[in-house]
Amino acid sequence: MPEHPTSHVPPVEPTGTPVRRRRWPFLAGPAVALAGVGLLAGTLVSPAGATGGGTDPGHPGHPGGPATATVEPFGTAPDGTPVERWTLTNGGVTMRVLTYGGIIQTLEVPDRWGQAENVVLGFPDVAGYAADTDPYFGSIIGRYGNRIAAGAFELDGASYQLPLNDGPNTLHGGPEGFDDRVWAAKPVGGEGEAALQLDLVSPAGDQGFPGTLTTTVTYRLDAEGALTVHYRATTDAPTVVNLTQHSYFNLAGEGSGTIYDHELQIAASGYTPVDETLIPTGEVAPVEGTPFDFRTPVAIGERIRQADQQLLYGQGYDHNWALDREDDGDREGSDAEDGLEKAAVLHDPDSGRTMTVSTTEPGLQFYSGNFLDGTLVGTGGGAYRQGDGLALETQHFPDSPNQPEFPSTELRPGEVYDSTTVFEFDD
Ligand code: GAL
Repeated sequence: MPEHPTSHVPPVEPTGTPVRRRRWPFLAGPAVALAGVGLLAGTLVSPAGATGGGTDPGHPGHPGGPATATVEPFGTAPDGTPVERWTLTNGGVTMRVLTYGGIIQTLEVPDRWGQAENVVLGFPDVAGYAADTDPYFGSIIGRYGNRIAAGAFELDGASYQLPLNDGPNTLHGGPEGFDDRVWAAKPVGGEGEAALQLDLVSPAGDQGFPGTLTTTVTYRLDAEGALTVHYRATTDAPTVVNLTQHSYFNLAGEGSGTIYDHELQIAASGYTPVDETLIPTGEVAPVEGTPFDFRTPVAIGERIRQADQQLLYGQGYDHNWALDREDDGDREGSDAEDGLEKAAVLHDPDSGRTMTVSTTEPGLQFYSGNFLDGTLVGTGGGAYRQGDGLALETQHFPDSPNQPEFPSTELRPGEVYDSTTVFEFDD
C-alpha cells in the first residue's frame, strides 16, 4: 500500500460517499484572462516553496478560480542563463513549469476529498535537474525519446553517429538533450485556459542529429484541469524526431511511497520486447498471457516480480506498448491527421485520483521507476526509491530509425511534426 497522507480527515456525506469535487466554470472572459496574464508576466508571484503556496484549488466545491499564468525567477542554468518558473492554474489544477528543460516541476491535483497534492516527482532547484544523475524528471525529451541502438542510423543514404549516453546506446536525445536546454517561454492562454508556449531552436548537428529543428511545445490547462501537451517541429533538412514528456507520476502524492497499488490500463494488444540493453528486437509481440497485458486494469505491483525475461531486462516495466488505434498513428508527413485516442488510464484507489492519457502517438513507454535507488532527494525533501513514480511517455517506438517495420520518425523540410497528448484528471 502506498502511504496516504493522513493529515486531513476526509469530509464524508452521511452515506459515507466522499464529497464529489465540482469544477467551477471559468469565470473571467478572454479580455480579463489575457490582461491578467499580461500584467502578471514578468512580475514575481511568490509561491512559498517548490511545492507550497500558489492558488489553493483544493476545497470541495471550490476547486479553483480563473485561469492564471504567472512567472518568477528560478535561478540559473549551469551556463549562467536565467531560468524562469511559471505557475499555471485552472480547473482546480496548478502546475509549475521551468524554462529549463520545459520541466513540469509540480502538478497539484485534488483527490476525491478535494485535497490538492503534488502528483509528480521532481527536484527543488535547477541544480538537481542539471546534474547527470537526473532521471529526466518532468522534462521535455528531444530530439529522440528513448533509445537509438549504438547511437547510429542512416537516412537517405547518409550515416549519422550520435554521442552515446546509455551504455552502448543513445538515450533521450543524447547527453545534452532538450531536457538540459533553457526554452523561451510566453503565455498564450485563450478563453478559459492557462497556457504556456515553449520554443527552442536546435541547430543542425546538435547531438549529432541533422537539420535545424525548430520546436514548440505548449502546455495548456483547461477549465476542467486537463493538461494538453502539444508538440510542433519543422526542419530544414531530413532528420528524425520523437518528442515526449517525461513526468513521473504518483497519484497518491509525491514522496508517498511506491506506485505498485496504482491500477493501470493500457489500450494495447502488443508491445515491443527488448534486448538486454533495452533496444527493441523489432517484433511487436502479443501481450496476451504475459505480465504486459494491461487491456483491463491491473495493479502495477501484481505481476512486476514474475519470472519473465522482459521484466528482468527492464528491472520491472520499461517497455513500449504498440497502442491499439483507430488510425495507424503513422506520421505520413504530419501527425495532425491522426486523432486523439485513449492510450492509458492510471488510478490510485487510495486517493481516488484517476489520470486518463490520450494521444495522437502510436506508442506508450511505461517505465515503473526501476532505476530510482534512494539517492535522489525530491521536492518534498525525502529520498526517491524504486517504484516511487512511473512515467507514461507517449511516443513513436524506440529505435525506429533502425527499424523499418516501425512507424516512421523521419521529418523532412516542408513537413510538420505535430503531436498532441492530453492528461485528464478525475477524482
Ligand atoms: C525511461 C527509459 C528508462 C530510463 C528512464 C530514465 O524513459 O525507458 O530506461 O532510462 O527513462 O532513467
